[in-house]
Amino acid sequence: MIPHNKPTLDIEEEQAAQKVIRSGWLTQGREVENFEREFCHFLGLPDEHAVAVTSGTAALFMALWALKASKKRVAFPAYVCSSLRHAVAMAGGVEVLLDSSVNSPNLNLSQLEQERIDLAVIPHLYGLPLDLSSHKDLPIIEDCAQATGAKVSGKFVGLQGKIGIFSFYATKLMTSAGQGGMVVSNDRGLIDMIRDYREFDCRNDQKRRFNFQMTELQASIGLVQLRKLPDFLRRREEIFQSYNSILNMMDISKKDKLNLKPIRYRAVLRTNNPHQIINKLASKKIKAIIPIEEWELLGDKSFFPNAHNLTQTTVSLPIYPSLTDKNVDIIKQLI
Ligand SMILES: Cc1ncc(COP(=O)(O)O)c(C=O)c1O
Repeated sequence: MIPHNKPTLDIEEEQAAQKVIRSGWLTQGREVENFEREFCHFLGLPDEHAVAVTSGTAALFMALWALKASKKRVAFPAYVCSSLRHAVAMAGGVEVLLDSSVNSPNLNLSQLEQERIDLAVIPHLYGLPLDLSSHKDLPIIEDCAQATGAKVSGKFVGLQGKIGIFSFYATKLMTSAGQGGMVVSNDRGLIDMIRDYREFDCRNDQKRRFNFQMTELQASIGLVQLRKLPDFLRRREEIFQSYNSILNMMDISKKDKLNLKPIRYRAVLRTNNPHQIINKLASKKIKAIIPIEEWELLGDKSFFPNAHNLTQTTVSLPIYPSLTDKNVDIIKQLI
């Protein structure tokens, strides 16, 4: 069986987890602090500008809370993981769904000017980054759950808007033991608010908070994975380019190549016969999927024609660091 996706874990993650277990200290502590600091270094942020939390969805919710999304009109794509809808609802925001671009899974940004929008959550889907530099006036939460390590104009994504969020779910680009997330910002005031909101113990000011703390076990594994991330991304790029040499893969447009540096979270094939390809691969025990199915669209398909078209013309192929060249060749030959 060749799975569609798989975390890449080995002895170093085991040893890191073992160290935490033997220390007897499991709840948020030094490992979490180290993970936050190293994530800041990775992005080129000053220390203490990142807050580790329980998941990418928790990170999104906290970012929306910090930007006071309650009763505000919050724009996000109809073609996306439903996490965004849940986070916006939890934060009390009013959802404004937008369509994708014609040949990209990402938002058509021109809609940001047409709609009455107070803030926007903008994901870089499948690792394909968006340049947000012409939308400086709108408060933006940059959703980098699928794009850790992608770059715009030579800088890592996550700092183009007011707040950036990341996910370390098991099958994301790196994981912190299956679940986890990070909130980052250049704005120290916002980050301090979010850090304060993450836990409620030992505070005597009657403010309402919640528990979004990451554990030491999660952080210890996240730290190892963060150090391995450049190798993970390199291997993903090799696999993507191997598919791309003969298949019609979804990528950034040629004109964007100077400015945008994608990473390969998903290897998405454009095709008019997605089910035929998925069935053919399944007959050889290879799992491919439609990355976002028609029923997963967050709005009525008639209002989001580009997003709907994507649900009919895409297949996501296996891509993860431990996938062998031999298996990539088998997949290519079958398509
Ligand atoms: C674009 C996007 N944003 C946010 C999330 C939520 O992350 P998590 O699963 O860590 O809650 C996900 C994914 O699963 C995602 O794909």
